[in-house]
Amino acid sequence: MEFLHTEIGSAKDNQNSAVHNWYKFTAGFSHKFVDEIIRLENLNKKKHSQIFDPFAGCGTTLVSSQKAGITAVGNEGQGFMYDVIRAKLTWNLETKMLGKYLKQIETEVDSDKNKNPKAASVHDLLWTLYEKHQLKQLLLIREAIEKIPDRKYFLFFKLALSQTLHKVSIHPISIPYIVRTKTLSNTISAWNMFSSICMKMIADLLPLSEVRTTSKIYKHDSRQVNRYIDNNQCNVCITSPPYLNNLDYGEISKVHTHFFGTTNSWGEITEKVRKKLVTGSTTHYTDSEFDLDVFKQNEFALINHVQLKYLLKKAETIRKVAKKRSGKKSFDILMLLYFQDMYSVINEIRRVIKRNGTSYLILGDSAPYGQHVPTTKLLGDIALNSGFNSYKIHKIRSRGSKWKSLRFRHSKNLTENVLVLK
Ligand SMILES: C[S@@+](CC[C@H](N)C(=O)[O-])C[C@H]1O[C@@H](n2cnc3c(N)ncnc32)[C@H](O)[C@@H]1O
Repeated sequence: MEFLHTEIGSAKDNQNSAVHNWYKFTAGFSHKFVDEIIRLENLNKKKHSQIFDPFAGCGTTLVSSQKAGITAVGNEGQGFMYDVIRAKLTWNLETKMLGKYLKQIETEVDSDKNKNPKAASVHDLLWTLYEKHQLKQLLLIREAIEKIPDRKYFLFFKLALSQTLHKVSIHPISIPYIVRTKTLSNTISAWNMFSSICMKMIADLLPLSEVRTTSKIYKHDSRQVNRYIDNNQCNVCITSPPYLNNLDYGEISKVHTHFFGTTNSWGEITEKVRKKLVTGSTTHYTDSEFDLDVFKQNEFALINHVQLKYLLKKAETIRKVAKKRSGKKSFDILMLLYFQDMYSVINEIRRVIKRNGTSYLILGDSAPYGQHVPTTKLLGDIALNSGFNSYKIHKIRSRGSKWKSLRFRHSKNLTENVLVLK
């Protein structure tokens, strides 16, 4: 896999690729990862090839597959990201209609410019991230696009507005979280930013309008069987799961979910976003609800007893270290729940992928409270217990310093890898 350059696990390459660059997503991987696997596996030469991505994110796998004319299916657990992906996969929009709706939005924003948005409908967080006149425009655009009757067009403009939220904020809102120590100078109005994003997206669509829609996204939790995807339906899985203790996806999308009104509080982020995802951070669960004796009796524990023994010992060490730390985070519980969840997803991948298929997963190791957890190897071993024949690990890079801004740093040198399951 000589194409594995050190940034393949990041979204940097996507900035210069049409449609891939329609939404800035901290956790995305490079479209080149997907393009190269399509080439490596000869997928465009094989008839009826199908790709599966159980963690679709902002849709990199699905967009690259559609560009290559290959059928692909994916799951995404976050409703907000699901809308982003649907917009990124809909290429048969009429330029005339897009122009008509854009004009309609402009007229409404213009005629309502003296109207004040109802403060009650705006989460307090948003007032701290946008200048008042900008937020007012953003809300007027939101109100105008909500009137668009055709869902496909509504999603197109919703995506443009979602991207505008990134571009006109006072502080950066997702690297990976809000960075209040940095202030951005925004001289462009929210409306101008929104309309120029729309124009760029419309231009990107022109050469794609005749391209067949081959990718499909489901709003679905990959820990469970997706009945719309058959057993052995796909040849290849290309994906990147959440890394253990790396990002809180509910936190990353909160500016958008608060803005579009799907969440309004910490509790709602937990119920409506975090609980639908693999347990990736300590914010997903309540410590007091975890019962170790019950955990030891679940399917994951019974099938993976060698890995369980290792994890229980590691959990004990983490617990001891935690007692000496001020935050006392329950990284021990997090680690156990993470592997249990990932076991369920690995079973789902095995169900969907053909017997002679291959699965490629970009993964990071972790070190909660400085205790190294070889995540990639453990998941490889768990995959063997789930029915895969063999696995290989290809190192992409060392990643000790990527999230310097995050709390609970440690000096352990971590790696990012590709886990290849046969
Ligand atoms: C590392 S990101 C994937 C990024 C993707 N490769 C891209 O380029 O955009 C992981 C994604 O998995 C989603 N996710 C986490 N748990 C999930 C689950 N149980 N089912 C479906 N999606 C899930 C998260 O919401 C997030 O968008």
